[in-house]
Amino acid sequence: MIEVSQLHKSFGQQQVLCGVDLRIDEGESLVIIGGSGCGKSVLLRHIIGLVQPDKGDVKIDGQGIADLSERELIKVRRKFGMLFQGSALFDSLTVEENVGFLLDREQTMPPAAIRETVADALELVDLGGTQAKKPAELSGGMKKRVGLARAIVYKPEIILYDEPTTGLDPVVADSIDQLVIKMRDQLKCTTIVVTHDTRSMRRVGNRVMLLHHGRIHANGTPEEIFNSTDPIVHKFVNGIADPKDLEF
Ligand SMILES: Nc1ncnc2c1ncn2[C@@H]1O[C@H](COP(=O)(O)OP(=O)(O)OP(=O)(O)O)[C@@H](O)[C@H]1O
Ligand SMILES: [Mg+2]
Repeated sequence: MIEVSQLHKSFGQQQVLCGVDLRIDEGESLVIIGGSGCGKSVLLRHIIGLVQPDKGDVKIDGQGIADLSERELIKVRRKFGMLFQGSALFDSLTVEENVGFLLDREQTMPPAAIRETVADALELVDLGGTQAKKPAELSGGMKKRVGLARAIVYKPEIILYDEPTTGLDPVVADSIDQLVIKMRDQLKCTTIVVTHDTRSMRRVGNRVMLLHHGRIHANGTPEEIFNSTDPIVHKFVNGIADPKDLEF
């Protein structure tokens, strides 16, 4: 279970998060939506302990991550897989090296076992046989799948997806959503998806939160969010441009 309490974060003069509270139970699929630049990626980075808050805390299964030693934090991070915005692959490495990167660096598994684990992860994301390719040879959708394979090699309990369908055509976007659902059902993962894509929100979320002005402005089922009469939620899910309301 993940509990975020009164999270505050500023960068210089810019206050990005100003009191985020949220709770995600095991097995839930939470979708976080919000205008560009409102702090969604920053929030995900807090959840996996890559960024320290100015105030407030994040608890994973009851453990506050700010209080953990570096070794304990590494253990907690092992519970997470993350698909980064833009996939974040190393261009000079092959698909196999990208997916096995962390396993290889840990040196706790023999090379043959790493190869097998990587092959299984690639099969799971429908990219079997692509081990020798380099990122430059892949389409945007394939890169997302490689990023996803890398996120699941540790058999995580929680997977975070930062805009998994952005920049993809609707058919490929749908196939990525299907993979998100497959990971949730096959690996029994808790899922957090940050997206601007309201179709994805309906497909993969059982709960949706709108981050706005540094706080959780709305929280409900996809249907409740879609049918909300709150003007900010309504404008966001219907794609009505009013930068005054949506920008941070
Ligand atoms: N390391 C950092 N240093 C300074 N400012 C930062 C840093 N990380 C994020 N920010 C700022 O915090 C704000 C929120 O950034 P974030 O990347 O979380 O937005 P986002 O909601 O994910 O946007 P998008 O939908 O465009 O990905 C932005 O204004 C960004 O410039
Ligand atoms: Mg982002």
